[in-house]
Amino acid sequence: MSLDFDGEDFRAYLAYAADIAVRFHQNLRDRPTFHGETPTEIARRFTEDMPSRSTDLRVLLERVERDVFTAATLNVSPRFFGYVMSGGNPVGIVAELLAASLNQNCGKWHVSASATEIERQVVRWIAEFIGFPAGAGGILVSGGSVANLTCLATARKATAPFDVARKGAAGGPPMTVYASVEAHSCIDKSIDLLGIGRDHLRKIPARDDFTMDVGALEWQIAEDRAAGLAPSCVVATAGTVNTGAVDPLDRLADVCAVNGLWLHVDAAYGGPAAGVPGARTLFRGLERAHSVAIDAHKWLYAPFEAGCALVRQPSHLRSTFSVLPEYLRFDSERIDRFDFMEYGFQLSRGFRALKLWLAFQAYGADRLRQAIESNISVMQKLADAIERSEDFELLAPSPLSIVCFRYRTPDPEIHGDEEYLESLNHRLVEAIEADGRVFLTGTSVRGRLALRACTVNHRTEPQDADFLLEVLRDLGAQVHATREGGARRRPGLPRHRLAGKPIDWPGDHPR
Ligand SMILES: Cc1ncc(COP(=O)(O)O)c(C=O)c1O
Repeated sequence: MSLDFDGEDFRAYLAYAADIAVRFHQNLRDRPTFHGETPTEIARRFTEDMPSRSTDLRVLLERVERDVFTAATLNVSPRFFGYVMSGGNPVGIVAELLAASLNQNCGKWHVSASATEIERQVVRWIAEFIGFPAGAGGILVSGGSVANLTCLATARKATAPFDVARKGAAGGPPMTVYASVEAHSCIDKSIDLLGIGRDHLRKIPARDDFTMDVGALEWQIAEDRAAGLAPSCVVATAGTVNTGAVDPLDRLADVCAVNGLWLHVDAAYGGPAAGVPGARTLFRGLERAHSVAIDAHKWLYAPFEAGCALVRQPSHLRSTFSVLPEYLRFDSERIDRFDFMEYGFQLSRGFRALKLWLAFQAYGADRLRQAIESNISVMQKLADAIERSEDFELLAPSPLSIVCFRYRTPDPEIHGDEEYLESLNHRLVEAIEADGRVFLTGTSVRGRLALRACTVNHRTEPQDADFLLEVLRDLGAQVHATREGGARRRPGLPRHRLAGKPIDWPGDHPR
């Protein structure tokens, strides 16, 4: 009763799966970014009981294409401007197939020798790409959230004035961590999980440009010290998720040096831009950080999942994460063998490094830099076009590749009507998803609802940003035209179907 295929079937299934992948990546610009189905409709596709008997994989692959691929949100599209999502480079697709074939467990060297050395090399390359010092240590993790958690666990262990690993948070004075109000929510989650307690995560106000107010930080550290608390770590953000603001890293490094604090930089989104000549100056001081979180599935264009925790002194990672039970101790005294299980939380670990190792070589660092530069330039042009327009309004500076703005109609009489602009943009965000030509999400900027466009997608070109504005202008005018229907009425726009025709893209099967 083998679970394996014979050689020919195996090859045929792989070839069929490869065809699906290739079909999926065709005509991306012409396809809706959102499937438009309701949660109930999608859930209805997946209701069968657990199967007892086998089904031919070919039939299942056809079903995957029909039920999964056609209902996928198209974040691979150059017209996807939501959240912070790369389009996933195709080298990564090939690498994931090979990594799964190898099935290496990258926790211990002697069961993943070449994979471990490749991961160490990739960590060095990522550090070099962003200008972090040679000699830094690091580990690949699932993404930005876990990279931040890993670095903050390390900071907690390294800075606690008592043995926090043994005694827990109750073993000494409460530790405090500092981040700006614009920091990512994964910092709150991490501080909670690490037992520091969210009350001890000090949210430092931001200045007009959404960067951390350094004076307020210094004041808070002094206050906490005077109150008998144990200030531990400053979390700077290099590319906030809301607007792309980069905290003044050099000044924060000075504050940390004076106060003996750990400087962690959440560079999950912006980090790779530190390797790009045009943006580099924004990141001055990054090289002074004790730890940095990077998300390779954002601006290094890898398919999900890939994040990287970088720590200036690798021994800090090891003293935080190394626990050696008897059955794993075998051969661990051999210092020539590097076991990643001692440098992070996971024991069993997949071969994430392969997709990054291949992409760094297949494209070369220069091409990755050019792609980042192009993303920044496309979004700067979008911000300029918005600033020049009558009917849109910029709501925040755009230092990287995020633009926060709102639609305000060409009618100047409406431009001061905050309440109406809120409801108009709220309805516009809903209309954008229903329409599907572009994908974009909303956020709040200083209490105002903003349309937030971001790209870290190597496929996005200037024409896509032009198209985005064209679609928003079209939908904005339509939503505004429904004003009489009341501010809270849904626009009820027809779903965009390529000029009314049903979507017909390769691999689209009748249901
Ligand atoms: C600044 C920042 N930090 C952390 C994260 C979390 O990363 P992930 O979604 O990979 O867990 C994000 C995600 O957008 C981010 O922008």
